[in-house]
Amino acid sequence: EQEVYKNGLFFHKPAFTFQNDRWEEEAHRVLNANSWGYIHGSAGTGETYKKNLAAFRRFSILPNRLVPSRKDAEGNELFPDTSMEVLGHKLPFPMAMAPIGVQKIFHPLGEVAAAKAAGDVGVPYILSTASSTSIENVAKAHEQGAQSGNQSPAPVRWFQLYWPSREHDDITISMLHRAEKAGFTALFVTLDTYTIGWRPYDMDNGYNPFIHPDRIGVEIGLTDPVFQKLFQEKHKRPATTKTSDHLGATIDDEDLGDAARLWTSIAFPGHSKSWEDLEFLKEHWKGPIVLKGIQTVADAKRAVGAGMAGIVVSNHGGRQQDAGASSLGCLSRIVDAVGDKLDILFDSGIRCGGDIIKAIALGAKCVLVGRPYAYGLAIGGQDGVKHVLRSLMGDTLLNMHLGGLTSTYDLKREILVKEDDMF
Ligand code: FNR
Repeated sequence: EQEVYKNGLFFHKPAFTFQNDRWEEEAHRVLNANSWGYIHGSAGTGETYKKNLAAFRRFSILPNRLVPSRKDAEGNELFPDTSMEVLGHKLPFPMAMAPIGVQKIFHPLGEVAAAKAAGDVGVPYILSTASSTSIENVAKAHEQGAQSGNQSPAPVRWFQLYWPSREHDDITISMLHRAEKAGFTALFVTLDTYTIGWRPYDMDNGYNPFIHPDRIGVEIGLTDPVFQKLFQEKHKRPATTKTSDHLGATIDDEDLGDAARLWTSIAFPGHSKSWEDLEFLKEHWKGPIVLKGIQTVADAKRAVGAGMAGIVVSNHGGRQQDAGASSLGCLSRIVDAVGDKLDILFDSGIRCGGDIIKAIALGAKCVLVGRPYAYGLAIGGQDGVKHVLRSLMGDTLLNMHLGGLTSTYDLKREILVKEDDMF
């Protein structure tokens, strides 16, 4: 971030564009129709997705003038402090990478490239259950990234659960144990995706990244010993594990197809759990649990009642329920109701530094960024992800600095106005 100050705007010709809206365009150019449809496509008419983006334009940031910079003990002027306490960690910047599945459909190195970039720049990586790389290999990549970035304290990683049906509790327990052992410190339970939404792009393409001939979206399952056993019992032969690490190698299509179908039916069981079922997760996960996909005050209060450490106010980037409310529109009232009782994170629609400032000012402790980093992954693998993350951080830092905002703790509702109210 500090490079922005040191070098001003005199960058070398950059490898990747700094125009945020062109990340999407460039990803479109390099991805095939299936992968593009999957990443970009939303539910139904795209109404929820469009509202997510539009909601940010309804708020404006008003700057404070003649605000001196913070100073250290020797009187040196400091840049704005972007740190934030989230889920028991002091994050250098209030942003994490949203869980995104099947990253190998965007770049051959998929999650490994993304997790290395996350470790390198010190942004928490949230690993999806629908990962096309095993839990253990993502942890390794994340640590390698952290070493190359010399990050201190060590960057954190969190695990996102697509919660199998209760008849497969043994598989859930196995995944939780693996994640804990691999150093994932918090559990994000996604509540809005017990079945995949009505997604016209994927339907037109006849595309399901999990059971499509690519069949690479199931590696967490294929590398799970309990899943292996189940497969063996059902099919009387072992499930192959020759998946994404061997893309391009000959794979046994029939085996993988069956494994992908079985894993998909487990990860997306078609029906929701109940609030009571959370007790089971609490028994088997000792760290913080965060519910992802909360949109109402009533559910946020239930999350508090269930002893959750946090929630993500999210509509899954508009990919699940169409005709829904913007995620940003749901945020303030939830903050007012439960903001002092658990950590409120936010996602769906973050595209630039101004968006990050607005979400934090409305009371989120941390934002999750989804599509932008996946576009970066498509465009440039690990370097592309790093570029997107650093751009978002640099943009936020300069925007705060120019607004006289010396710390993320200055980001209060008072710095925002509703654009409609100004006329
Ligand atoms: C997602 N998202 C998601 N969420 C989750 O809990 N588990 C997952 O496996 C996935 N997979 C996934 C794939 C792709 C291609 C996208 C774009 C999104 C949702 C994600 O975590 C997040 O909620 C949204 O992406 C946030 O919205 P924006 O930032 O994309 O607007």
